[in-house]
Amino acid sequence: MKTESILLGAVLGLNACRSATETAPARASAEPPRADAPSAQATLAELDRRTPVPLLPMMAHHQKENMRDHLVVVQEIVTSLGEDDFDGVARAARRIGSSPQMNAMCSHLGAGAPGFTEQALAFHRVADEIGSAARARDQAGVLSALGRTIGACTGCHATFKQEVVPELAEHH
Ligand code: HEC
Repeated sequence: MKTESILLGAVLGLNACRSATETAPARASAEPPRADAPSAQATLAELDRRTPVPLLPMMAHHQKENMRDHLVVVQEIVTSLGEDDFDGVARAARRIGSSPQMNAMCSHLGAGAPGFTEQALAFHRVADEIGSAARARDQAGVLSALGRTIGACTGCHATFKQEVVPELAEHH
């Protein structure tokens, strides 16, 4: 927990720095920075021009856990499809499909990044089509829906990146 907040502090300090660097030299602070973490993070932020999605540490952690499970789902779908196990395909696809809970979570995560929630909801809707095709025992349909679903993954990744923040903007 302590380490987490120290690391977080480094990230945040850096964000504060980022706007400050335009006018003042970085590292004017009295606190000695730990190693070169801030400047490395600032360099990364400069290089990675995707739109930031501001998230509290817990939300960022939760989002990444979800993401890793999304990839496991893709793995399970491909494996099941190779075994003609359409029930397995449908079962796995349900974990990335639409649901009131999923929609609420995506709206929560995307509140600080215009366009994020819309892309997230469209992704879950296209993922629903994997299950529909699987229930119809339609292999080509599953592959087509899977291709479009992965297109939604890569489209969002090309657009957005996480930005861990200490608190969220007011209107949230
Ligand atoms: C609506 C946006 C969105 C969609 C759709 C989406 N992701 Fe992500 N994903 C993100 C963001 C944002 C990150 C964090 C990227 C960053 O900060 O570099 C991420 C990160 C990841 C990561 C890295 C996790 C880690 O531990 O670092 C994986 C793996 C991943 N996504 C898999 C997927 C897969 C597979 C799909 C589709 C089945 C998917 N994502 C769909 C937004 C999305």
